[in-house]
Amino acid sequence: MRILLGITGGIAAYKAAEVARLLTRQGHAVRCVLTEAGARFITPLTLASLTGQPVFGANPDLGEWRANPVVEHIDLARWADLVAVAPATADILGKTANGLATDLLSTLLLATRAPVLWAPAMNTAMWSHPAVRANVARLKSFGHSLIEPVEGLLACGEEGGGKLAEVEAIVDAILALGSPRHPALEGKKVLVTAGPTREDLDPVRTLTNRSTGAMGIEMARALRNAGAEVHLVLGGDGPAFPLYGLAPTRVRSAAEMLAACEKLWPAMDGLVAAAAVADQRPETCSAEKVKKGEGPERLTLVRTPDILATLSDAKRPGQWLLGFAAESEGHLENAAAKLTRKRLDAILANDVADGQGFGDQANTLTPVTAEGPQPALGPLPKDELAQAAVAWWAHRLAALSPSQP
Ligand code: C5P
Repeated sequence: MRILLGITGGIAAYKAAEVARLLTRQGHAVRCVLTEAGARFITPLTLASLTGQPVFGANPDLGEWRANPVVEHIDLARWADLVAVAPATADILGKTANGLATDLLSTLLLATRAPVLWAPAMNTAMWSHPAVRANVARLKSFGHSLIEPVEGLLACGEEGGGKLAEVEAIVDAILALGSPRHPALEGKKVLVTAGPTREDLDPVRTLTNRSTGAMGIEMARALRNAGAEVHLVLGGDGPAFPLYGLAPTRVRSAAEMLAACEKLWPAMDGLVAAAAVADQRPETCSAEKVKKGEGPERLTLVRTPDILATLSDAKRPGQWLLGFAAESEGHLENAAAKLTRKRLDAILANDVADGQGFGDQANTLTPVTAEGPQPALGPLPKDELAQAAVAWWAHRLAALSPSQP
């Protein structure tokens, strides 16, 4: 992806360097455009070093980093798959909302046909000023996207809204808006379950498992980046930063996860069941903390509902179901058995022998369909693995229903 990163004059400009670094590390081409004030906060050399790309600006005093001066606003506007402005000051919001083109960044913001993402950062009073509110509303009416500033301690010493969104959240939003869409998934409604469930014994103790939810969250992001409308039902602690356009329905137990999924399922086109649902729960959950006894104690467990099998039973024609199977032995045979038992379209088998595949580790998935195991995907970090799995599934969907666009 080719990203044009506009950086305007705010103290948060130093965080733009990290946005540029993370995107570059993920293999994207990032070209930075500095306003005159932006260049007072962060140097072109820093950005050029991090991105390996020329840095652009409109300040003739900084001649040596003013690249090709002829029609650079048009060239850059055409080059970009997405234009992001982070941090965006009240000034650049106001300029673009009102069609002003007074420097390179504001000019190319009018000239671009690519999606535009704003990540504003400013003092709380400025952010809540009616002029800024009106400008933001106007920019949204142009189809521009915005990642809301967060609350926190601002550089001016005030506490409140106006702090630049987290760097990871900005990168996530850029990928959500600028990634290439997949025709088989674009506009499709997909339910994703992710994370562990927690089955309480009492107000303090709980039964759960080692899932962090990372793979399911990455599947949700990859589906969203491919253009799907994703509904994420999430157990466990959840992601470290807010996911763009993916406000999850948070659940605790398997019963809660099932209830949330059953509500959503009739309107969905597909399901990706990546949650590590507890297979058993304590028969009873005590309202008070249970006192410890002497010697061995017995815990009676009962089965939780199988969410995937339940939704499979309720499937209407055209809906598809993708499951995951984490096994520490015989993962392919077990996956094939689950594919048949739960009547799935495909299952992604994951060998978790010796603790592999949990948390941040690289992982390998083998898709299993009615035709048997398919070539393995990975080992890859989970974000790239999810992209590979989504691409694999999208191609298969397209091949299964070639008449669809
Ligand atoms: O736990 P099991 O190996 O059977 O999980 C296989 C698939 O079924 C996974 O996709 C998992 O998310 C789903 N599942 C479920 N509800 C359960 C158990 C598993 O949806 N109670």
